[in-house]
Amino acid sequence: MALITFSNPEYRDKTVYAVAGSHTETLLKLARENKIPINYECEDGECGTCVVKVSSIDNKHQRMGGPLTEKEKSVLQANGKISKEEMEQMIIDDLPSPWRLACQMIVRDEDILVEY
Ligand code: FES
Repeated sequence: MALITFSNPEYRDKTVYAVAGSHTETLLKLARENKIPINYECEDGECGTCVVKVSSIDNKHQRMGGPLTEKEKSVLQANGKISKEEMEQMIIDDLPSPWRLACQMIVRDEDILVEY
């Protein structure tokens, strides 16, 4: 069971439980189920509308979800969230970016803060 805290300056923070282990539970799906108003359009990793900033809050494992999908890599680079150099370093370090697409990121068994 993972605790996901959604945070936005315009709304009260909301923490929800996520059942990790399902390979289809994206952050966006979880947000919509819990009426968290994350912006989205395509739901397919193409538009970049659903970009969020993710950080680990349990400090057990410093990973924030799985590795970026190919769509996330290209959209996040195209909209300037990640530079080419940062992307290469993340691949070398085997760490995901704090910037993610909510419609692509699969929830894992870790407590995270999601800023949207
Ligand atoms: Fe378009 Fe996620 S909704 S990239």
